[in-house]
Amino acid sequence: MIPSAGTPIKFGDILNSVIHSCDFEDRFKMMLGIKHAFAVNSGTTALYIILRALRKLSDKDEIILPAYTAPSLTLPIKKAGLKYRLVDISPHTFNMDTEKTAAAVTDRTLAVLCVHLFGLPVELGNGTRKTDAFVIEDAASSFGTRKGLRFTGTFGDIGFISFNRGKNLSTVTGGIIVTEDDKFARLIRDEIEKLPSHNLSGKTKLFFKAIALSYAVRPWFYTLFQKAISKFKYTSLHEDFDSFRYVTFQGSLGCSLLKRAEDIFHDREEKGRILHDAFSNIKGIKCPEIPEGWSVVFNQFPVIVENPEKRMRVFEEINRMGVESTILYDKPIHKIYDYSGEGFPHAEYISERLVLIPVHHYVKNETLYKVVETVERVIRS
Ligand SMILES: Cc1ncc(COP(=O)(O)O)c(C=O)c1O
Repeated sequence: MIPSAGTPIKFGDILNSVIHSCDFEDRFKMMLGIKHAFAVNSGTTALYIILRALRKLSDKDEIILPAYTAPSLTLPIKKAGLKYRLVDISPHTFNMDTEKTAAAVTDRTLAVLCVHLFGLPVELGNGTRKTDAFVIEDAASSFGTRKGLRFTGTFGDIGFISFNRGKNLSTVTGGIIVTEDDKFARLIRDEIEKLPSHNLSGKTKLFFKAIALSYAVRPWFYTLFQKAISKFKYTSLHEDFDSFRYVTFQGSLGCSLLKRAEDIFHDREEKGRILHDAFSNIKGIKCPEIPEGWSVVFNQFPVIVENPEKRMRVFEEINRMGVESTILYDKPIHKIYDYSGEGFPHAEYISERLVLIPVHHYVKNETLYKVVETVERVIRS
């Protein structure tokens, strides 16, 4: 069975990170060509820190975010004492509708949270950037996606990337905040200084989790121990989150992985392209539009099964052939939490039809062609 997530962490990466320490934030700044980078224990904490910092600059209290996205994004918003306002997604890009986003900005909008979902970029130029609200980029699952030399996360005022175990590059947990702006950087640094560090037992656990993750993503290991591994997967909605500083060992592991980042990105990009080309010719399946000029490093490849009654069969048949597909968030944000106001038909549409296919290092191209055949067979039946 090929798991849905798969950063190729070698045992040597882990060993290396114990022997040699390395300044991950510095390496990251160099790679992204950005002035400031601050690592913390998760993408969620990264967003929380950003929001706390922005609150010091303005008394506006609303954050705009897409109606179909990671439900956990609402937690740091609420914890920072802010409210969220939703906008619908675009059925073409599968990401937030940038024109509707620009129209939703009011004089209470502190920031627009542009989520680059699945690795697909939101084009910030399309409306979103024309308002005076801050633009925060959620590049949690789009690390590596870029236009020319410019990575997602570096187009807005401030951005963040996640390194949790399902992301394009993983150090088990982790997140990094990036910005070009000295004023934001000062505020972010002040907030991070208030965070506690993990104790020795927390650090030791992370070390063993890194070893476990390096094996758990390998298909042979995953096949043998799938039942045991599935016990460690998140199956319910998070109701809170803990915030810590990033652990030195994780930073050093991150440095090792950054050396191979181009290969990791290339794998995901190429596999995404294979699926995009193949699925674009299948009636009944809809692929996202890829904006021009972008190299898209897919986290998982998203397809819409236009007939919702076939969606679960597509999902089950892909899994039956030994590839772990997922359906991600089965409800949009306004159907999970209390939210008054208008509906978001495109967010509802995608939540009932989406299937995600893994495109990481451990999935072979031949397997992806078989996935396409399987999907086509189900759609035609
Ligand atoms: C789009 C998006 N944003 C933010 C997060 C939060 O990142 P983390 O799990 O590192 O807290 C996730 C996590 O899956 C995500 O998918």
